[in-house]
Formats: sequence, structure tokens, C-alpha cells
Amino acid sequence: MKTLIIYVSMHHGNTEKIAKTIAGVLEADLATPAEVDADTVSKHDLIGFGSGIYFWKHHPSIFSLVERLPSQNGRAAFIFSTSGLRRIRLLHDFDKPLRKSLLAKGFRIIGEFNCRGWDTYPVWVKPFGGINKGKPGEKELKEAELFAISLKKYFKAYLYSLQVGQYHL
Ligand SMILES: Cc1cc2nc3c(=O)[nH]c(=O)nc-3n(C[C@H](O)[C@H](O)[C@H](O)COP(=O)(O)O)c2cc1C
Repeated sequence: MKTLIIYVSMHHGNTEKIAKTIAGVLEADLATPAEVDADTVSKHDLIGFGSGIYFWKHHPSIFSLVERLPSQNGRAAFIFSTSGLRRIRLLHDFDKPLRKSLLAKGFRIIGEFNCRGWDTYPVWVKPFGGINKGKPGEKELKEAELFAISLKKYFKAYLYSLQVGQYHL
């Protein structure tokens, strides 16, 4: 399973920690959106897209990249993010806009991961050193590792089911 993780981490390097942890488990290539083109994507079986959450969604360069890609015909993808606020699916689902554009491009989303990250952006939190200081820490990195392990298991089972399907044809 060849995996590519595309990420942006511009505030405190929070998402980069998550990207590297997941990449370690999946033995994935890591890249920024500017380093990726359609050809690179086509050479990978599984693509991870992640960034900090900036104004309620992923970084604009992730969306521009997805926009530039041709239709993906069911290629597997996962989404990850770090955010100042907790993601509450029904209230504010930060992953929704990216999920929507990936699905529109024909990706099949097999997992999503979010955790909180150190945030010093709002002026009112600056005097206190920001919120979520120290995050992602040991606990969040462990959760990211477990997420990556579950992706790996899921993907292996999926590939196996395709092989079994072929034998039955
Ligand atoms: C310009 C800016 C806008 C942000 N907007 C949001 C937001 O809308 N919701 C949220 O939960 N966190 C927001 N944050 C906090 C970041 O999502 C959080 O700190 C994240 O972990 C940053 O990841 P990074 O260090 O990988 O860039 C914002 C941070 C910045 C710098």
C-alpha cells in the first residue's frame, strides 16, 4: 500500500507532528500541496489530506490542490486536522468542506482524525500563552498512531477483498 500524506502546518507545527506520526505507521511519503501534482497522486493507493483548521476549514492550498486533480475514481483517502476548538460534528464540523470536495473529486474517504492543537491566534488568549498548550502531546500522538494502525488494517482487508472478488469472476 503506497501512501502519500499531503499537509499544511503553518501555525505551530501541530499538524506536522500528527502527519509524521501517521506517516511513520503507514510508511508514507510526506509532501506539501505545492510539491504534489496529479501524477504523484496517481502513483499512490491511499492519500491523506491534513492541516490546521483556519477559519473553520482546512488550509486553502489543500482545496486548490484537490480542485486541480482529475477525477479519482474511488481512490482511498483520509482526512486529518488539528484545531483550537474541539470538533463537534453537529455543531461545527471542520472536516465537512474538505470531505465534500474530496467526494466530489471521486475520492473514497476511509477515515478522519482530529485533535486539538496549541492555538495562540485569538488576541484574548495570547496573554495566557494560548489554548491547548503542549498539544498535540503524548496522548494525541498515541491516538494518531492508533488511527493509522486502524487505517492500515482496513486497507489491507479492502485489498484482500478485491483479490477474493477477482478469483470469483
Ligand atoms: C489564522 C488562524 C485561524 C484559525 N481558525 C481556527 C478556527 O476557525 N477554528 C479552530 O478550532 N481553530 C482555529 N485556529 C487554531 C488552529 O487550528 C490550531 O492552532 C491548529 O492546531 C494549528 O495547526 P498548525 O500548527 O499545524 O498550523 C486558527 C489558527 C490560526 C493561526
